[in-house]
Amino acid sequence: MDHFELNNGVLHAEGVPLDRIAAEVGTPVYVYSRATLTRHARVFRDALAAVLPHIHLAFAVKSNPNLAVLRVLKAEGYGADVVSEGEMNRALAAGIPAADIVFSGVGKSRRELTAAVHAGIGQFNLESEEEGVELAAIAAALGKTAVCALRVNPNVDAKTHAKISTGKADNKFGVAYDRAADIYARLSGLEGLSMRGLAVHIGSQITDLEPSRQAFVKMGELMRELRAAGYTVSHMDLGGGLGVPYKVGEQLPGPDDYAAMVADATKGWDATIMFEPGRVITGNSGVLITEVIRVKQGVNAPFVVVDAAMNDLARPAMYDAWHDFVAVRPTGESMVANIVGPICESSDTFAMGRTIDAVKAGDLGVFRTAGAYGATMANTYNSRPLVPEVMVDGDRWAVVAERIEPETVLAAERIPDWLAG
Ligand code: LLP
Repeated sequence: MDHFELNNGVLHAEGVPLDRIAAEVGTPVYVYSRATLTRHARVFRDALAAVLPHIHLAFAVKSNPNLAVLRVLKAEGYGADVVSEGEMNRALAAGIPAADIVFSGVGKSRRELTAAVHAGIGQFNLESEEEGVELAAIAAALGKTAVCALRVNPNVDAKTHAKISTGKADNKFGVAYDRAADIYARLSGLEGLSMRGLAVHIGSQITDLEPSRQAFVKMGELMRELRAAGYTVSHMDLGGGLGVPYKVGEQLPGPDDYAAMVADATKGWDATIMFEPGRVITGNSGVLITEVIRVKQGVNAPFVVVDAAMNDLARPAMYDAWHDFVAVRPTGESMVANIVGPICESSDTFAMGRTIDAVKAGDLGVFRTAGAYGATMANTYNSRPLVPEVMVDGDRWAVVAERIEPETVLAAERIPDWLAG
């Protein structure tokens, strides 16, 4: 459920008509609904809290790192899952306490590890033995202790798009399941580290709960083996990954189904269970408004050329992802069209041969379910601006990220002396 609905024939975000935002800010522009964000944060949290005695929620910042979004989620009791110093600094800037931050990521640099130790980050999810050894040395030299979990690769197929699957043996993430106990034992003996648990994350946009269940059961077995050998395992981080519907009417397992599966798979664990949800919180909380530049005749179907492009919303180009497209002022008519952006490559295509609300040049439309992995993956390809972001709250709204104009990017570039003249 979200708060993007038709009201008097105009698509609104909560109480604000989207054409008003488009007129004032320009297009393309991302719009987030605060009420939807809050609702999703609560539904996910409450579903898990109802069945598990000890949980810690760390919002996956990568899905939507906007400062205002982080502030909304902090107020709902979420910590943060970060994967870079930049994300860590955003989470801290939003007021999320360092102790509630989990630092994940396969390639944390020395500089990042050092900054995170200084900041007092709550948990490092180590992705390798090598990383653990390096972090131990950094922390010990500073006279500190880094609290850690070991990310394990359970070799389970999440049955999602290959590019967002992370739990198979061939994927770069975590340590091999069969070596995990030995590595945990070695890292537990290092000065500077305090090993407190295990972490797993098998992929994103997961729509079948069975692979996650299998992974969690395997993690439970490893937890018991480590405890039997005398090691502390008080925290189990089960990652993110729960998928969201991208098409109207699509029925997928929701937070309640997920919570029931987790409760069953983790029965008797006696541990704090941690989660790193991203998409399930932010996905349906955002739309991307775009204006139709022109409708061009095609051989099989007309091309609706919109002013948003793959640099603004990369998911269709990268993962063949589907985003519903609807008109801001639908007429009741429909058309079959290809929706494309202005960028000079064929991957800049949002939909082919799709039945959509009829639109013409100058009309506004939105791509739905664009709140996760939307603005955060935007870039300036073709020297286009970096897309702005707006948050709506009831009848009020604010620009929460300004458009960054190509001139600003250009101003950071230099012609060296030896090319001048
Ligand atoms: N934890 C870890 C360690 C992760 O790598 C991820 C996502 C998450 C949590 C959050 O997963 P979520 O709950 O959002 O599924 N750009 C892609 C998605 C990449 C996901 C990367 N990792 C897309 O647009 O579909």
